[in-house]
Amino acid sequence: MKPKVLATREVFDEILQYLSQHFDVTSNQSDVPLNPETLAMRLSDKQGALITLSDRIDGALLARCPNLKAVCNIAVGYNNIDLQACTKARVMATNTPGVLDDTTGDFTWALILATARRLTEAESYLRNGEWDGWKLKQFLGLDVHHATLGIFGLGRIGQVVARRAIGFEMKVIYHDVRRTPSEIEKACHATFVTKEELLGQADIVTIHVPYSSATHHLIGKQELERMKLTAILINASRGGIVDDTALIEALRKGTLAGAGLDVFENEPKLNPGFLELKNVVLAPHIASSSKATRLKMAMLAAQNLVAALTGKTPPNLLNPF
Ligand code: DGY
Repeated sequence: MKPKVLATREVFDEILQYLSQHFDVTSNQSDVPLNPETLAMRLSDKQGALITLSDRIDGALLARCPNLKAVCNIAVGYNNIDLQACTKARVMATNTPGVLDDTTGDFTWALILATARRLTEAESYLRNGEWDGWKLKQFLGLDVHHATLGIFGLGRIGQVVARRAIGFEMKVIYHDVRRTPSEIEKACHATFVTKEELLGQADIVTIHVPYSSATHHLIGKQELERMKLTAILINASRGGIVDDTALIEALRKGTLAGAGLDVFENEPKLNPGFLELKNVVLAPHIASSSKATRLKMAMLAAQNLVAALTGKTPPNLLNPF
């Protein structure tokens, strides 16, 4: 008998075909998010799961899934998984690092350019029929070229963003929990600075750190107050790293020029304050969403699942086993 696995959300046909070679597969192709109760019920007789960041895997769920051996996230971020609880329950947890770096880096640049040059605000103005001709002072934005880019987190995605900045002839500064090896700093043309220096000097601040209790509200009221009045903030990492209430307040008061956001606290719910603001570019957590990359992410997660349930060490195992 083949092991039973669940894909908790809709996946590509290629993934279902691949998984079906090894497993008895059930997939939530209707793509309706499963609430914790339904998820626990659907996983109670499964050996493995292909999951997404909207599925919370914790001790309470694992206690109801005695056969579960592996949960494989289709995401590099894994703050939806309680790793300690997985280890205790002898469940392997995996993620999908590497395959989405370039695509997420590209989208960060889409947010930087759209926010700096007020693209979505200008488009709405045009679509609303408000444009009555060229004006010298219309939609004055921030120059990206030769500006100072401040990167929180010079990991894989932060490095992609930094390397793209070379084409814009920018000064790149970064802050991280530890200094990156000098050959990477050199390749990225990036200089290590303190958190305070980064906030005070950058024209564009972009965040590329994972979410954890240590990075919760890394950018809050105090940090926003340290930023230049003309600066913009970009977040394509995780909701909760920025204090959304403090950000809305700063954007409302004009103590920050703009923000470009792909992620939010409590997403998919959006703080309604964002919708009232013109100086914010909003996207529904799509930074990694190119067709090729989402397929690679799902395939890597599926390969992790196959390895985990066939006695091998999955390539992207997150917890000790
Ligand atoms: C990730 O991989 O963590 C992304 O946020 C998913 O799009």
